Amino acid sequence: MDFLDSRRKSNSTGKVIAVAFFIAVCIVMLKQVYSPNYTSPDMFSQHELGVTHVLVTGGAGYIGSHAALRLLKDSYRVTIVDNLSRGNLGAVKVLQELFPEPGRLQFIYADLGDAKAVNKIFAENAFDAAMHFAAVAYVGESTIEPLRYYHNITSNTLVVLEAMAAHNVKTLIYSSTCATYGEPIKMPIREETPQLPINPYGKAKKMAEDIIIDFSNTTDMAVMILRYFNVIGSDPEGRLGEAPRPELREHGRISGACFDAARGIIPGLKVKGTDYKTADGTCVRDYIDVTDLVDAHVKALAHAKPRKVGIYNVGTGKGRSVKEFVDACKKATGVDIKVEYLDRRPGDYAEVFSDPSKIQQELNWTAQYTDLQKSLQNAWKWQKSHLNGYGHS
Ligand SMILES: NC(=O)c1ccc[n+]([C@@H]2O[C@H](COP(=O)([O-])OP(=O)(O)OC[C@H]3O[C@@H](n4cnc5c(N)ncnc54)[C@H](O)[C@@H]3O)[C@@H](O)[C@H]2O)c1
Repeated sequence: MDFLDSRRKSNSTGKVIAVAFFIAVCIVMLKQVYSPNYTSPDMFSQHELGVTHVLVTGGAGYIGSHAALRLLKDSYRVTIVDNLSRGNLGAVKVLQELFPEPGRLQFIYADLGDAKAVNKIFAENAFDAAMHFAAVAYVGESTIEPLRYYHNITSNTLVVLEAMAAHNVKTLIYSSTCATYGEPIKMPIREETPQLPINPYGKAKKMAEDIIIDFSNTTDMAVMILRYFNVIGSDPEGRLGEAPRPELREHGRISGACFDAARGIIPGLKVKGTDYKTADGTCVRDYIDVTDLVDAHVKALAHAKPRKVGIYNVGTGKGRSVKEFVDACKKATGVDIKVEYLDRRPGDYAEVFSDPSKIQQELNWTAQYTDLQKSLQNAWKWQKSHLNGYGHS
């Protein structure tokens, strides 16, 4: 009896240990699959011949996620670093599902303001290049919270640059903006147009540019500074979109407002200013499709040369009025959006558009997605199937 009892006991102890072991294995596996920090450390920590490993800061955001998708499609190895303050883990998950193979994509949750964390990331990963997208990026918000903008844009760029220097990463593609030009008298804007930014966002980006240029003059870094105009559209295959935080709606850009109006989230569109010296009286801007923009990044990366700083406008070279934009948006969404015409908003300038000839000549890049309605249709398709952004359909 005693002998049988003890056998039964040791049998059931064995079973308990086996079940516990099984559960532990399952937990470890689940953690690996769902952890945002899931990595295959070996492949990311070593340089590999023929593989270019690109750090994409802000890769959970609108432009960064589209850039990561393009880089992955082109066989780059990608590490996304993002603090998810504005971006979406959902976008990273889409990319992880598309590129699940080891050594393709890793996501690291970190704040670029944390120099120690950034340094650790550079120490543990063998980056060949960095695309620095991460930033807070609303002109209006920057006038309300200027310190946040100088910290997040200027100071964090310094952190990234210091880590690059300390860890011998020599290629940088930097996201700058036409806001660094301020209100130029002469259109179109060329790269030599004086940079006289008029808001903290533009000033912070200009300072970051200056820091990058000053530092690169003392090193053999390869730097490309891309000054984007107004970015619109989304992945034509509908995998990614633009999903800003709802609380940022008030600072949002015109395309977001158009879609919100089409979805009935806001009653209509407010067009500010109808008496500008433009063809139809409304402001004119240069809208660049995100697919073209990320193509410019890939070309910039391919053409980046040691001891050289390339500065390029990324725009279509064609200005479109707000009225034109609203008409295209109405057609793209099929909704007769209500439009209210109001007085001018202080600080808005009449006309802003690029001269993109330098990037055409030197990087062989030209905007391909120049049909406003088509770009908005792509974006609208994603918006309609993602009513809560990356959260739920
Ligand atoms: N969208 C445009 O029209 C436009 C125009 C010109 C320039 N840009 C520039 O392009 C870049 C990307 O803009 P976007 O429209 O994709 O913005 P976004 O807000 O969609 O993406 C920015 C990403 O950076 C992340 N981020 C912000 N601060 C961070 C920090 N401290 N640490 C780590 N991650 C951080 C956010 O979480 C977000 O995922 C920005 O540098 C912006 O200034 C954008």
